[in-house]
Formats: sequence, C-alpha cells, structure tokens
Amino acid sequence: MREDIERVLFSPEELQEKVSELGRDITRDYAGKDPVCVGVLKGSFVFMADLMRCIDLPCQIEFMAVSSYGNRSETTGAVEIKKDLSTDIEGRHVIVIEDILDSGLTLSYLIQYLGNRNPASIEICTLLDKPDRRRAPVASRYLGFQIPDHFVVGYGLDYAERYRNLPYIGVLKKEIYQ
Ligand code: IMP
Ligand code: MG
Repeated sequence: MREDIERVLFSPEELQEKVSELGRDITRDYAGKDPVCVGVLKGSFVFMADLMRCIDLPCQIEFMAVSSYGNRSETTGAVEIKKDLSTDIEGRHVIVIEDILDSGLTLSYLIQYLGNRNPASIEICTLLDKPDRRRAPVASRYLGFQIPDHFVVGYGLDYAERYRNLPYIGVLKKEIYQ
C-alpha cells in the first residue's frame, strides 16, 4: 500500500504524542464529569482506541455511524444516521470524536442532532482539521493537527474503505482517486 502514498504526514510516534496531549487536556477539563465519548464510525475507531487509553477518568464509550452518501473523496452534504446512540445523553457531558473535520457538514448536523437531546454540554474532538474546506461553521474544542487541503488516509481514515489500517497518516496519490 505504501506505493499509493505520496508522502507521510504524521508518523505513528507523532500521532501517539498528539493523542496523549489530547487525552491529558480532556482528563483535566472533564474531571468529575463522567463524560460520554461518542466515536463517529468508521473513521474514528483507531484514534478513539488510542485516545480513550489516554483519558484517565471514568467515562462511557459510545459509537454512532453516519454516512455522507457515496464513497467518493467529496462529501455531498446530506447525512444519514446509520447507527444511533444506545444510551440516553440527557444531562450528560458529550464529547464527539471524529477523524477529520473537512467541510464540517457531518459534524454540524451531528451536533444539532445530539444537541436536541439536552446534553449538559457537547464538544468536538477531531484528530485532523482542513480549515480551507469549511462550509459549515464548526469548531473543534480538541484538535490534533490542522492540515492543508490534501486527501489523507491511514490511522482509521479511508479512501473507498481501504488504507484504514496504515499506522501513519499519509497523503494519497492523486491518480488513485482522480
Ligand atoms: P465533512 O462532513 O466534509 O466535514 O467530512 C467528514 C467526513 O469526510 C470525515 O469523517 C471523513 O470520513 C471524510 N473525509 C474528509 N476528508 C477526508 C480525507 O482527507 N481523507 C479521508 N476521509 C476524509
Ligand atoms: Mg469518515
């Protein structure tokens, strides 16, 4: 698979270091709050598995699955909930955990959707952010890295369901998706 990658953006060591920092920040901010960490499948699963082991607090882990229609490298804006939460979040402190904030359409929809259930608070934690592509006003409270507008894969992120198992994050060669 390495031959499909133009260059490595973040090595496994750089990812682990950043994830530990995020875990420390969340541990500090949520002391005594027993948060519900909501991972957005599938992209967040590797990040979340590492992150939760850096959060030194009682907390609950939940997953949602959403789909932004189609498996292209561009999002269409429409969001479908494929798997909802299996717990009540009313009065709870919710942290939504995503792989990447791109147009922001998925997370802005999700925040509104979950916000309707009256959580005590709701914040976003994303590993990556592509601010140049934002179409909906969403901000990540906990952010790993800002990146330029390249299509990236690995560490959970896919192109057409491939590359999620790469241990690093790399820029996918344009000829693969064009
Ligand atoms: P948004 O709704 O445009 O913010 O995009 C959200 C989803 O698009 C993410 O959860 C990813 O699944 C996908 N996505 C956006 N950019 C990339 C990328 O560079 N690589 C892989 N997936 C991406
Ligand atoms: Mg995704």
